[in-house]
Amino acid sequence: MKNTILTLQKHKQNKQKITMLTAYDYTTAKLMDESGVDCLLVGDSLGMVMLGYDSTVSVTMEDMIHHSKAVARAAKTALVVTDLPFMSYHASVYDAVYNAGRLIQEGNAQAVKLEGGQAFCEHIKMIAQASIPVIAHIGLMPQSVLALGGYKVQGKDYHAAKNIILDALAVEQAGAAAILLECVPADLAALISDLVNIPTIGIGAGHNCDGQVLVYQDMLSMYDGVSSKFVKSFAPIGEQMKQAFADYCQEVKRQQFPDSIHEFAIDSEIMAKLKYEFLISNKG
Ligand code: KIV
Repeated sequence: MKNTILTLQKHKQNKQKITMLTAYDYTTAKLMDESGVDCLLVGDSLGMVMLGYDSTVSVTMEDMIHHSKAVARAAKTALVVTDLPFMSYHASVYDAVYNAGRLIQEGNAQAVKLEGGQAFCEHIKMIAQASIPVIAHIGLMPQSVLALGGYKVQGKDYHAAKNIILDALAVEQAGAAAILLECVPADLAALISDLVNIPTIGIGAGHNCDGQVLVYQDMLSMYDGVSSKFVKSFAPIGEQMKQAFADYCQEVKRQQFPDSIHEFAIDSEIMAKLKYEFLISNKG
């Protein structure tokens, strides 16, 4: 059965942890879906891990729709959530609802995510009113990297921590279906998870969130960019891929690949005739 936003909410009620991974392409999304992950996030992190940008701010709606469609084709069970990219909702509530609608209609997402707390409650409210489940991403908001001056842990002093709590309460009140908490102290995330009735999904937010998310290139050691303290490598797939690519190059150069089991046969009489026609008779 296909997961919906209600599945995540039921998991919170039943105290079952929610699993979410980022996905950007059909093949990987299919493997994740078959592995039983609850939710696939088509994150705007694709700007960095798929497109090689320095940050997520260059990602466009067209990028998000393109990747969201591919992931949605693979997701037989997992819920598909797609990010609203930088500047697709900041300028107006109209933009927010219009672009959330595009991610649903054109990107085949089942829910959208935007970065913002108290300042974006009107946007969240109107997206939710359009019957689009919306996840609010608070704490470290990577689309604000230019204003923040880097990717840093958020909410470490009293005022900053209180502000993140107020963000969480405000987005719940505005109609957010879930909260993504990035890079905040574990105890603060635990308190927020107790205070709100909607699920919290953490990345760098400790073990007391209702669920966890990781960027898959990080958890498979595939990405060269800066790795954070909160990332765990679950398998050295990046190294294994590099080794496989190197083995392939070596075997081709040494003429070990392809060998006979990888080749297609043709009737030897046909070949003899072709050789006669093209190699022998033409020369004469
Ligand atoms: O874009 C993304 O991948 C995210 C992460 C925090 C999971 O939002």
